[in-house]
Amino acid sequence: MEVIVTKTYEDMSALAARMIAQQILHKPSSVLGLATGSTPVGTYKELIRLHKNQGLDFSKVTTFNLDEYVGLPPTHNQSYRYFMDQNLFNHVNVPSASIHVPYGHAESVLDFCEWYEAEIQRFGGIDLQILGIGGDGHIAFNEPGSSLGSRTRLKTLTEETIEDNKRFFGPGEEVPRFAITMGVGTILEAKKIVMIANGKKKAEIIAEAIEGPVSSQVSASALQLHRHVVVILDQEAGSKLKRADYYKWVYEQKAKLMPNLIGKAT
Ligand code: GLP
Repeated sequence: MEVIVTKTYEDMSALAARMIAQQILHKPSSVLGLATGSTPVGTYKELIRLHKNQGLDFSKVTTFNLDEYVGLPPTHNQSYRYFMDQNLFNHVNVPSASIHVPYGHAESVLDFCEWYEAEIQRFGGIDLQILGIGGDGHIAFNEPGSSLGSRTRLKTLTEETIEDNKRFFGPGEEVPRFAITMGVGTILEAKKIVMIANGKKKAEIIAEAIEGPVSSQVSASALQLHRHVVVILDQEAGSKLKRADYYKWVYEQKAKLMPNLIGKAT
């Protein structure tokens, strides 16, 4: 695992966007796994800037989003599909036929989940997966207790997640209790994973996920089993890491001696 603690949210976002851009430049037909939440908004902003100012081309890119609330149509302003349209898809040239976000209104959730898994395979698997982390350590909507081998499925959200996500909904609006989410096992099959986190609120859970034991109680800890994960944090999110000095040292040495290897460690 490569852990990079940047100074600010903007630095974290710029570095994550640069890694995504490098992936697309290296393989224009990349399959990207995308995340929602407040954390990746800055990363998507930077990608839009790179598209507009530097011609970063998404025309051959395929995307798969991690999750979606059950019961919200794609046009609902709190659906993850809507979020992605507003924060990325409407501003870059990824063809709409190449965009996949779990469908929260599927008639048969079970059939949909099987189809979603097969579709990821049909495109050759995810080249680069972007992840945030929930307050309870979830990745996508894999709440504590999710099997580390789990696949795309229906998940009941915890009260903590419902509470956390209330801030995005209007007064009186109910937060859905169910979601369709890629499983931990699905995520671990991505060829490369970049996890981002910022703010004091994430410091404790980030330390648990990165330096604690691998446990289904903290889904993000499963990333320790993956051979190519880069974790990019701002200073606050990295403030509870015991080995922060070492991560900093590694980053500085690489930046000096082999800058091309940043983000390429396994
Ligand atoms: C939701 C999403 C996760 C995301 C998490 C963190 O629960 N399903 O993919 O990582 O929120 O959200 P935020 O980035 O707003 O802290």
